Amino acid sequence: MKSHYDATAEHHEVHMPARWRELRDLVRETFGDIGPDGVIVDIGAGSGLGSAMLAEVSEAEIFSLEPNNTMRSMLVARLDTAGVLERVTVLAQTVSEGLDGLPDRVDGVIATHMLGHLTVAERTALLEWIAGSLAPGRSALLTVNPEVPRGGAKLAPRERQVGRFVYRATYHMPATGQTEQLYEVLDEQQRVVRSLSATSSWQAVTAADVRAALEGHAVEVSEPQDGAVLVMKPSGS
Ligand SMILES: C[S@@+](CC[C@H](N)C(=O)[O-])C[C@H]1O[C@@H](n2cnc3c(N)ncnc32)[C@H](O)[C@@H]1O
Repeated sequence: MKSHYDATAEHHEVHMPARWRELRDLVRETFGDIGPDGVIVDIGAGSGLGSAMLAEVSEAEIFSLEPNNTMRSMLVARLDTAGVLERVTVLAQTVSEGLDGLPDRVDGVIATHMLGHLTVAERTALLEWIAGSLAPGRSALLTVNPEVPRGGAKLAPRERQVGRFVYRATYHMPATGQTEQLYEVLDEQQRVVRSLSATSSWQAVTAADVRAALEGHAVEVSEPQDGAVLVMKPSGS
């Protein structure tokens, strides 16, 4: 699937590891006890940062669903370098195409930094699939957005040093409409060496949205922690 990630993958790769460092403890606590007979699914796996962390903290078999070719290539390279490719099945599909091909019973799911790309119908199908497929006592980790203020939100720019350059990412999330992204590379004199603008159909998805979609299902949704919620299937349910 072609998308803005073909153009922005380099910048995604520069800025996302910091976010994953924040999630590391939660990922380890949630999935660290899953052994080789367990299955964890990474939905919208991107460049494989989450799949690689799952493979590091657990011994589980992993399914990584990622429709974009560029992101999937990075995922395969990352998992191969980590020496874990043999236990990762890579599916080149979107949520709507891919859910039926996943195992019926899973011991964990992550859907991180991706829910906002889905249509409401696709998001509901994913959340219902999670509620129906998680083994009792097991959890899914989903990242969510804070409530977007009425006029929209301009997020604080993220910056990272890459050699002599600084990579800067700026995001503007309007209350409705396309999310705007600006990626810049600055030299030592703060001059812009190159820049790239992109828009995406990302819509903020909050903990309340997740809770509403899962009402009536035998799962509990935690309070957001580090921008993430856990959807837990109570034991014995
Ligand atoms: C911001 S990236 C996050 C990647 C990864 N989950 C992470 O946290 O590092 C969002 C990913 O969602 C994927 N995506 C977009 N629409 C999707 C869909 N309908 N089904 C599955 N994945 C999708 C994109 O291709 C992209 O790789």
